[in-house]
Amino acid sequence: MPTDQPELLHLRADGVSVLLRLPPDRQAEILWWGTDLGPLSDAELSSVAAVSVGGVPNNSLDRPYRRGLLPERSQGYRGRPGLVGHRAGDAFAPLLRTAQLTADANTVVLTAVDERSGLQVDSTLELDAQGVLHLRHTLTNTGDTAFEVGELALIVPIPPDATEIADFTGRWTAERMPQRLPLREGAWLRQNRRGRTGSDAATLMTVGTESFRFRSGQVWAVHLGWSGDQSVWAESHPDGTRVLGAAELLEAGEIVLAPGERYTTPELFAVHSAAGSDGIADRLHTMLRARAHHPSAPRPVVLNTWEAVYFDHDLARLKHLADVAADLGVERFVLDDGWFGGRRNDLSSLGDWQVSTEAWPDGLGPIAQHVQALGMQFGLWFEPEMINEDSELYRAHPDWVLADPDRLPDTSRHQQVLDVARPEVSAYLFSCIDSLVKEYRIAFLKWDHNRDLVAARHDGRAGVHAQTAAVYALLDRLRDANPGLEIESCSSGGARVDLGILQRTDRVWASDCNDAVQRMQIQRGTSQLIPLELIGAHVGPPTAHTSHRTHDLSMRVAAALFGHFGIEWDIASATEADRAGLREAIALYRRLRPLLHTGSLVNVDHPDPAAMAVGVVSKDRRSAVFTYHQIAMGVREAPAPLVFPGLDPGLHYRVSRLEPAGAAATIGSQPPPWWTADETVLPATMLSLLGLPLPVLHPEQAVLLELTAL
Ligand code: GLA
Repeated sequence: MPTDQPELLHLRADGVSVLLRLPPDRQAEILWWGTDLGPLSDAELSSVAAVSVGGVPNNSLDRPYRRGLLPERSQGYRGRPGLVGHRAGDAFAPLLRTAQLTADANTVVLTAVDERSGLQVDSTLELDAQGVLHLRHTLTNTGDTAFEVGELALIVPIPPDATEIADFTGRWTAERMPQRLPLREGAWLRQNRRGRTGSDAATLMTVGTESFRFRSGQVWAVHLGWSGDQSVWAESHPDGTRVLGAAELLEAGEIVLAPGERYTTPELFAVHSAAGSDGIADRLHTMLRARAHHPSAPRPVVLNTWEAVYFDHDLARLKHLADVAADLGVERFVLDDGWFGGRRNDLSSLGDWQVSTEAWPDGLGPIAQHVQALGMQFGLWFEPEMINEDSELYRAHPDWVLADPDRLPDTSRHQQVLDVARPEVSAYLFSCIDSLVKEYRIAFLKWDHNRDLVAARHDGRAGVHAQTAAVYALLDRLRDANPGLEIESCSSGGARVDLGILQRTDRVWASDCNDAVQRMQIQRGTSQLIPLELIGAHVGPPTAHTSHRTHDLSMRVAAALFGHFGIEWDIASATEADRAGLREAIALYRRLRPLLHTGSLVNVDHPDPAAMAVGVVSKDRRSAVFTYHQIAMGVREAPAPLVFPGLDPGLHYRVSRLEPAGAAATIGSQPPPWWTADETVLPATMLSLLGLPLPVLHPEQAVLLELTAL
């Protein structure tokens, strides 16, 4: 490493500091990642460097312990190492030292080498303007024999007072359900071997100070931007190791680097907040919104045909549905599964991406043109990575399956997976999708992925890595070829929600569950990672198809407003009253979407587990909208007052009830007087500290409130 290099580098952005130590003979090491340490002079940095080395405890190695960017066995590291691999059994314990470094204000690029092991690691650390730390490594085999990669991890330190872990788990229709546990000695390890992100994904591995909440506590979180297999962990050991880590999960033999070949990790997003987990969400949302390709046009009101007609594709029925939708203010009409090949149910035809001559004898032109003539965009469903054994494609190319042809895995939803990393498969999918997009002026693809990968095999070895990279490349190619085309990431509902897929898609379908109570929880979890404009949220029919619970339209609308609003319901058969309510709800969404889709998300730390409340406050803090959901029957005689965090403490706000689809049902004869008063104006401090009393609501009822600064 250049000898004129200072021993500590200090990156700072938006309230976050990263201190990087650069020992001359070892790897670089992150000494601190967290709250901004303030400006530090060279002299101060030297003092910090001097105190950054600990003592030598009893019964340990006879030198102070150090952990590099890729913690090494060769340094006595006893936790999960940074680089696992071997060269015919040897080179299993690399010893890297920094050989080169370039740094500007917020980006550091490091090259570490171990000549004897024949390895080079290029690492990029960037602290972006939103205070999000981005980390990535590329491993190059500089030796002259093959090197097999077991794992290349992205690891960041956490301080001793981070004692609680929070992450997510779930299942189909219950995605991103939170779980919480103490961080003890050992590792809390979440591994995904589904070949897709998974409805049970950890999503964010978060640690925080004791009892951290949405709006309080110090919090550190990591997310791996990758849609394939992965591990993510929080680890603590008596030797002082305290880290968050993540890595792509590789099968044996999956990545074997020939001399000169390289392997690059997915990107790690490491986020710190000094103000609870909402601070994590806020940094991530701001970061995503700053992307050049972040959707900037108002998010159009969607009607998706799935729960309206399922596989019953009938031109007259769908045209009528489109008429009703356009009349209510819908802006995008999406034709779901059932339009291609012999697809009359979910048993066959995936892969046959040619318009069904049985269901659509005149092609999709009549419905696409009808929709477009009504002023709506036309969208279409695909499930590109999948194939049914009962399909023309399978009959022609049985060898295109991502599996050992003599050992096809069990089907799931009757389907197998295509080997997209085969160039002919990706070329076939590109040409099918691209030609339909152009022919029908398709503005939006719903890109589905409805099964896990099992024993995925490409070119004689484990194939999840190759598959994930090939799907990313296919998405990139389609977008390049069709500027403006928007793509939704759907996977049995919300099983592919991650920042890798969102690099090349424009929203996610958060879940197949449109039950408003359940959906609010799912959206709350999803919005910890991504902002509301990227989260598809639809008003379903009165009785939810996936839970069989019935909710009032007002409740369903209140849930769907906190996302990218749409409808998933046969509104042609809805009552007149429901249609009138929907019309008002759509108008309200269209009025509020500039706020909902640019403002800061505010999760209220409500004391009552039978309630949940969430809001969005505009960046200038002059307007806000909140919703309160009575999700169950509480034990309180009257609900705890609803407080409104995130407002400007120097302002007064007018509070108005919004009831586009009718009022919430209340119990008891006397609501609080403000509820029926002509006008309620209060200082922000009162609203955020005292809060407002609410009427006693029936369970599964929601209230919407708008706050406007005077
Ligand atoms: C998946 C999706 C649904 C729908 C169906 C169609 O389950 O999550 O929204 O598109 O596939 O088969």
